[in-house]
Amino acid sequence: MAEASAGLAVAIDGPMGSGKSTVAREVARRLRFQYVDTGAMYRAIAVAAIRRGLSADDPAALAALARGITLTLEPRPDGSARVRVDGEDVTAALRDVEVNRIVARVARVPEVREALQALQRSLGGRGDVVMEGRDIGSVILPQARVKVFLTASIDVRAQRRQAELAAAGTPMPLEEVRRIIAEDDRIATTREVAPLRVAPGAVVIDSTTLTVDQIVDRIVDLVERARGL
Ligand code: DC
Repeated sequence: MAEASAGLAVAIDGPMGSGKSTVAREVARRLRFQYVDTGAMYRAIAVAAIRRGLSADDPAALAALARGITLTLEPRPDGSARVRVDGEDVTAALRDVEVNRIVARVARVPEVREALQALQRSLGGRGDVVMEGRDIGSVILPQARVKVFLTASIDVRAQRRQAELAAAGTPMPLEEVRRIIAEDDRIATTREVAPLRVAPGAVVIDSTTLTVDQIVDRIVDLVERARGL
């Protein structure tokens, strides 16, 4: 009975630049589900680390930081969330280049992951939800009824992220963006805790040549089929 009242969870995992955030937000909007971006939580800790002058290569300091702060997410009308660290609004800084550069090293610290798990699980257990990240289908919500692994070629991912950075007013050479993404992939797939991989039961969607609408249609279709079971 607890399962039935817990709602339907959609887990969307994939590497940096695969289009997860855009797709997950749109799926949530179409289905009127809650949208949860777990990457934003790791990014918030990275912002806090930068502001406190901590090194991304000091796991003990990052662990203490993650254990000691209070992270809050307030839903906004567009489906994204305002993110606060100890009350301070860090939302505008989440996608800064410096954050992109260090966040994989923050996210590989086991204590950082543990500190975020309870919050992620509780958000995932509150009714219908679309949650996106790297380990949602495998670790955080292994019971999710719909699991998607979204991927794309590294070149397309680099182009997408470059366009996003340019739109944010922080343009960067494609090669540099590509390097950051390749390093994020390397750390995410080789770390000891919750390495990025296709979760059991996940449907793999390669977004290289698909439009956002085509991907969203496929996922909404998977949800409708899961509901019909
Ligand atoms: O999806 P994103 O680019 O916003 O993720 C930012 C970083 O956080 C990236 O280095 C991977 C990491 N991450 C993670 O390890 N586990 C998650 N569930 C979500 C993100």
